[in-house]
Amino acid sequence: MAASACPLRVILDEKEIRQLILNMARNGLGAMQPGGTLTIGARVIKNSPVLFIKDEGTGLDDNLLSQIGTPFFTTKENGAGLGLAVCYRIVARHKAKIEVDTSPQGTTFWIRFPNSREHYAFPVR
Ligand SMILES: Nc1ncnc2c1ncn2[C@@H]1O[C@H](COP(=O)(O)OP(=O)(O)OP(=O)(O)O)[C@@H](O)[C@H]1O
Ligand SMILES: [Mg+2]
Repeated sequence: MAASACPLRVILDEKEIRQLILNMARNGLGAMQPGGTLTIGARVIKNSPVLFIKDEGTGLDDNLLSQIGTPFFTTKENGAGLGLAVCYRIVARHKAKIEVDTSPQGTTFWIRFPNSREHYAFPVR
């Protein structure tokens, strides 16, 4: 991508972000019927780098929404209920924020990273 098209720099832990995308993509795929589209993308929104994972699945009701990210919370027969708990920890370590847009037509998880003017305190290992 040309430098001008990507004006913001964000420092990420590659392994952790890979894990986050995998956990969210697996959830999205599991929530959809065959033929649904899973979209993974990145954008700059209000000066902040944002990663998003969008599915066309069944969505989350208010009760579910209030419980996701709680360790061991699952609605799946063989779920551990750890996928999103791990994602929330990874996001917190990156000083990022998760927002969820959901409806019976699908769900988008938005992960907003701090912009380059915000204090960046991700520990370098
Ligand atoms: N994209 C989504 N669409 C609909 N429901 C979702 C979505 N993502 C998560 N959920 C709901 O949130 C619950 C918790 O998700 P989480 O990833 O934490 O655990 P899990 O998928 O059940 O198990 P695992 O530990 O294998 O990931 C799921 O059981 C599911 O009910
Ligand atoms: Mg999961």
